[in-house]
Amino acid sequence: MKALVLAGGSGSRLRPITHTSPKQLVPVANKPVLFYGLEAIAEAGVTDVGVIVGDTGREIREAVGDGSRFGLRVTYITQSAPLGLAHALLVAGDYLGDDDVVMYLGDNFVVGGISGIVEEFRAQRPDAQILLTRVDDPTAFGVAELDGSGRVVGLEEKPARPKSDLALVGVYLFTSRMQEAVRAIRPSRRGELEITDAIQWLIDRGCDVRSTTISGYWKDTGNVLDMLEVNRSVLDTLEPGMEGKVDRASEIIGRVRVEAGAEIRRSRIVGPVVIGAGSVVTESYIGPFTSIADNCRIEDSEISFSIVLENSLIDGVRPIEGSLIGRNVAVAPAPRTPAAHRFVLGDHSTVHISS
Ligand code: DAU
Repeated sequence: MKALVLAGGSGSRLRPITHTSPKQLVPVANKPVLFYGLEAIAEAGVTDVGVIVGDTGREIREAVGDGSRFGLRVTYITQSAPLGLAHALLVAGDYLGDDDVVMYLGDNFVVGGISGIVEEFRAQRPDAQILLTRVDDPTAFGVAELDGSGRVVGLEEKPARPKSDLALVGVYLFTSRMQEAVRAIRPSRRGELEITDAIQWLIDRGCDVRSTTISGYWKDTGNVLDMLEVNRSVLDTLEPGMEGKVDRASEIIGRVRVEAGAEIRRSRIVGPVVIGAGSVVTESYIGPFTSIADNCRIEDSEISFSIVLENSLIDGVRPIEGSLIGRNVAVAPAPRTPAAHRFVLGDHSTVHISS
């Protein structure tokens, strides 16, 4: 069996974080979401991984390299344009040959990995196996309709009137029968070769298409609360570790990871918290469910349940809660007078002022 990881797509989403980097590299507890997928694939015992790349191929290659640090052998496959998930399978046809494939969307996060489902597929080898999860708004997903016995009878991509609340999770298992389907289907109204149409093609031909419903699933919807929530759930299982320096005047409580070269001075850290490499926290309080990325400076501030990305500075601000702070950001109090707000905010910023 091989894996196919989709890390293509256009790099032009107007979202707080992803308008400057590919959405597969959005960090969760200081690690790109894509890496959790690669780790889950390695853990499931699959070593050959084709990674589909597009416009943002350079950043993806830089981050993933040859895959050896995940115990994987990565082959990059360039998709000329994001023409659909089934198109990605088509482009990977030569790489996959007759092998079975686990296809994994690089911006999806499945809590608890995929080992169980891969094992089940290997043992039973249906033509296709899909994962489903219950969601509040199915119109943003592929949606499955099941019959009384739980068999998949129909799939629709982002329907206006969904027939169920069962959304397709971005992890799919296929035998090489799927290659026939992706060659047979035509582009949808939005001009993409849809994976849902390809699976529907299999269903219509009486193929064995099975589903498993899971909980513990997340994808980047651009929603900040969703990001904070997935960050919280990963930090909840954080391995504590102390590679940086903590002075005697500081207090570390609960599960805290301080990465190499980070420094904590005269501060109180209440985990679960991760402080990235090279970051310096001085005379501050960092509260539960907070990720501070690499090379940040937090001084004389209080922050909890938040994400701070690389190279940012927070100085003299308290309290900060439920916030997402991007890369190279500076947050500091305004001078006391004149009593007016004064801003220099980048494109697409959102600021909440309590006054
Ligand atoms: O995330 C689950 C959903 O993913 C499913 O419920 C839908 O049925 C499925 O169509 C897909 O919908 P999205 O609209 O969320 O897919 P998106 O265009 O965001 O692409 C998913 C990933 O695949 C993303 O990491 C980019 C990558 N991609 C996407 C396309 C269209 C490619 O590598 N090549 C492509 O052509």
